[in-house]
Amino acid sequence: MTQERKPQTIRELLPVASAWLAERGVQEARLDTELLLAHVLELSRMQLYMDHDRPLIQDELERFRALMRRRGERREPVAYLIGERGFCGLDLEVGPGVLIPRPETEHLVEVGCEELGRLAIARGAAIARGARAETLRAADVGTGSGCVALALLDRVDDLRVWATDRSAAALAIARRNAERCEAGERLLLGQADLLAPAAPSSLDLIVSNPPYVLESEDPLLSPEVRDHEPRSALFDADGLPLTQRLVEQAARALRPQGALAIETGFDKAPLVEGFFQRAGFVEVRRVEDLGGIERIVVGRKAG
Ligand SMILES: C[S@@+](CC[C@H](N)C(=O)[O-])C[C@H]1O[C@@H](n2cnc3c(N)ncnc32)[C@H](O)[C@@H]1O
Repeated sequence: MTQERKPQTIRELLPVASAWLAERGVQEARLDTELLLAHVLELSRMQLYMDHDRPLIQDELERFRALMRRRGERREPVAYLIGERGFCGLDLEVGPGVLIPRPETEHLVEVGCEELGRLAIARGAAIARGARAETLRAADVGTGSGCVALALLDRVDDLRVWATDRSAAALAIARRNAERCEAGERLLLGQADLLAPAAPSSLDLIVSNPPYVLESEDPLLSPEVRDHEPRSALFDADGLPLTQRLVEQAARALRPQGALAIETGFDKAPLVEGFFQRAGFVEVRRVEDLGGIERIVVGRKAG
């Protein structure tokens, strides 16, 4: 009698393991399998293919299987299992307690950079007329992992960012990401309720990806999001009172001509645009993401 041999090399393991994940309803089963295997073997995904006849030792197999069970049976997000997620070219630490940065939030960084570019030109012109040179100041409200603040600092040289969050767990991760990215004194992290401690007319740019999922939308969430990501990072009440309060605070905290950019849910941009209008913002517009969804509302303070 011949006994069936268990897969032992990368090449043998990948199809069997990813089929197992797919059977359990995991959407990107092959990608997740590759990420988990690469993590266990401390290789890149590319190296998995270059070294595909490499056999796994028992300890590696056991660690891989344990992660696969957590992914397939408990539906833990792959980013939490490997402890990392890429965002705007930065490799950031993530873990339970912090929202996993989403690709659509990269648009918030782009919009923030555009607004900073406009403000830098206006400031350059003012300096030419004799005004004092000043570093641009931004705030990232509800910073989570610090992804938006750190991406802005990575792209814009003469900038300081104040990043706030109510969650101490999120701020601990943001602090470690700040060290990873060598943000130094350009990033100030602080625990706060939205922008409550901000001085009036002190900021040039405010960006935020606040919680915007409604309780009624809970059934639409995947198990990865619903069962593992922090509810305080996801949910706001009907009518988005948190976003409304943020817009009102931002109207006070911004300097004249300063900009506010807020990410929101797929059908909520008109509601958020109304908050901007009522708070007196001008040149208010909605920005679509790559999927054609109005994802960001941006406006300027008159002045
Ligand atoms: C949707 S997450 C965004 C995290 C990160 N900026 C990103 O884009 O991945 C919202 C964040 O806002 C924080 N938050 C919720 N309510 C807050 C409040 N009242 N004041 C400050 N931060 C708050 C949550 O802790 C969470 O980290």
